[in-house]
Amino acid sequence: MAPRKVHLVFSAPLLALLFLSSALMAGLAAATSNGTSADDARGRSLASPSQGGVFSLDRYGARGDGRHDDAEALAKAWEAACASPRPAVVLVPGGKRYLLKVVRLSGPCKSGVTLAVKGTLVASPNRADWSDKDRRHWIVFRGVDELTVNGGGAVDGNGETWWKHSCKINKAMPCKEAPTALSFHFCTNLKVEGLKVMNSQQIHMSIEDCTNVQLRGLSITASGTSPNTDGIHITRSKDVQVTNCKIRTGDDCMSIENGTHNLHVSKVVCGPGHGISIGSLGDDNSRAEVSGITIDAVQLYGTTNGARIKTYQGGSGYAKDITFQNMIMDNVKNPIIIDQNYCDKAKPCKAQESAVEVSNVVFKNIRGTTITKDAIKLNCSRNVPCHGITLQNIDLKMEAGDGAAESTCQNAKWRKVGTVLPQPCTSKN
Ligand SMILES: *[C@@H]1O[C@H](CO)[C@@H](O)[C@H](O)[C@H]1NC(C)=O
Ligand SMILES: *[C@@H]1O[C@H](CO)[C@@H](O)[C@H](O)[C@H]1NC(C)=O
Ligand SMILES: *[C@@H]1O[C@H](CO)[C@@H](O)[C@H](O)[C@H]1NC(C)=O
Repeated sequence: MAPRKVHLVFSAPLLALLFLSSALMAGLAAATSNGTSADDARGRSLASPSQGGVFSLDRYGARGDGRHDDAEALAKAWEAACASPRPAVVLVPGGKRYLLKVVRLSGPCKSGVTLAVKGTLVASPNRADWSDKDRRHWIVFRGVDELTVNGGGAVDGNGETWWKHSCKINKAMPCKEAPTALSFHFCTNLKVEGLKVMNSQQIHMSIEDCTNVQLRGLSITASGTSPNTDGIHITRSKDVQVTNCKIRTGDDCMSIENGTHNLHVSKVVCGPGHGISIGSLGDDNSRAEVSGITIDAVQLYGTTNGARIKTYQGGSGYAKDITFQNMIMDNVKNPIIIDQNYCDKAKPCKAQESAVEVSNVVFKNIRGTTITKDAIKLNCSRNVPCHGITLQNIDLKMEAGDGAAESTCQNAKWRKVGTVLPQPCTSKN
């Protein structure tokens, strides 16, 4: 989108007014951090595009009845807030459901913008509201600096009809994309905090090409059988922190993909779902670059994977400097897994020489239970073995004492520190 052109002529009285309103803004910012209806009332008297303030959807024609499309009202409120020279708040008032078809909220904005979701943003249940040209997005933020999304309300993807039509659920259906509930593209200094995101059509939240991101206090939920409903997806982004989140979905809790650098995840609780995955990387012989990932104090309950790195044969590039530590796994299927021979294509993947190099990976202080024997599995590439793998203080047992857990390895250069149970790399496959 072309940068917006807003020409403001400042007069002395206007400048004085702006100065005054900035003092009021400080109070407003505090008021919008948790919901009261007073903020809406105050916003009404204060807000004007040239001053900053609160831009409530209701003032831009939203009905909030959960039936009529309020996307245009949101887009208009956004435009006004985005044109404000002072930090502005777009308010989704509490206690109401605002139905939205596809909506795109773009920058650059004149100043920081907060989308305070007190009520619920709910997606249209009608799949026909998405054109075949773009079925991949619902709410999209693009090119915004200093964006905050908060408010304690909910974003509901209303995904049940999409799930029913997924080829994963109904084999008669063609495999087609479904929308990501919240997409952030090319955002810098982004905060998303204190929100419920639920029942997404597909991925719940996607961070793409963003820098300096904080995701905090999010609750992300969808049925454990819902298809492809990843919790948080991150790609081509750096300096990202994810803390204090609860993620229960039908697919990856977090999927960390190509171009992610300096990501810190802590205090995240996952499950049901597929656990935390770095990858898949290197598909269709592509290059991948992932580095500086710390997954700390994460708990996984009943997930198919725990700490996983997966790459296809034939790729290039690297996944390095990765630490999974202080994890609790409960009833997890594959607690610790590096798979450089990953394949989920319809046809078996053919053997290839090159691989994404996997190195300097630490699995440390990890305990809990597994429901399959394979507690630790390092399945690495013959030509590009994974190296610098540390297994430190690990205690993984079969659930309900159901025999002994095992560890299998192939082409892995690893070392053990402290006590590691099961004994690493003892099983022959
Ligand atoms: C707003 O949040 C503060 C601090 O979290 C809390 O003490 C206060 O009770 C909250 N107010 C409302 C109206 O929820
Ligand atoms: C992954 O990122 C690298 C580095 O930015 C880039 O060269 C490569 O094309 C990307 N791979 C894919 C599949 O997009
Ligand atoms: C590694 O993966 C390959 C390909 O999926 C498989 O054939 C092999 O048995 C695996 N090795 C181990 C040790 O699990």
